[in-house]
Amino acid sequence: MSRESLDFAARLVRWQRQHGRLDLPWQNTRDPYRIWLSEVMLQQTQVATATPYYLRFLDRFSDVQSLARAELDEVLTLWSGLGYYSRARNLHHAARQVVALGGFPQERVELEQLKGIGRSTAAAIAVFSAGRREAILDGNVKRVLARHFAIEGFPGERAVEQRLWTLAESLLPGQDIETYTQALMDLGATVCVRGNARCDACPVAQSCEARRL
Ligand code: ADE
Repeated sequence: MSRESLDFAARLVRWQRQHGRLDLPWQNTRDPYRIWLSEVMLQQTQVATATPYYLRFLDRFSDVQSLARAELDEVLTLWSGLGYYSRARNLHHAARQVVALGGFPQERVELEQLKGIGRSTAAAIAVFSAGRREAILDGNVKRVLARHFAIEGFPGERAVEQRLWTLAESLLPGQDIETYTQALMDLGATVCVRGNARCDACPVAQSCEARRL
């Protein structure tokens, strides 16, 4: 691990403990069902919008077995208003996959086999439910890394994606992976936002290439 990545991760972890979001309803649990549900809802939806849906969903389906037994129509009704309805269809399908497997897998590559779960979502679930040392790379994190390390090119371009994944993996700390992962998400959502970033509140502003340039 390079000196640079140690600093980056250590600063983010320290920042998260002081300024990050510490009591979202899907935190402080290792239940893969609750974590999976939150990550799917948060794929295209902001925290404030997703939260009441999340709580209502859990009220009705408290575990993966009850979701697997449900009719798709009821799942879609609970999802109604959140948008991107393929997420609800995939969720229902994946619940049945999980039950058939006898439970949630802990490894990122196995989680990726579930319907509707890409590499970054699988990594987030493996981190938060099993403490696995995996890199996430959702839209917010791409923006944070592309800015901080001045990665040029079009987001979505294959070569750029590849560089971002390699970079994201090289930055992973040896400990506190959960806090670090949540810090990256929170930094992207609250500080290194689209448009005008709040660099004055950023724990890694001093080493940010985009800021320097
Ligand atoms: N966006 C995606 N995953 C998230 C999480 N675990 N907490 C907050 N925002 C998120």
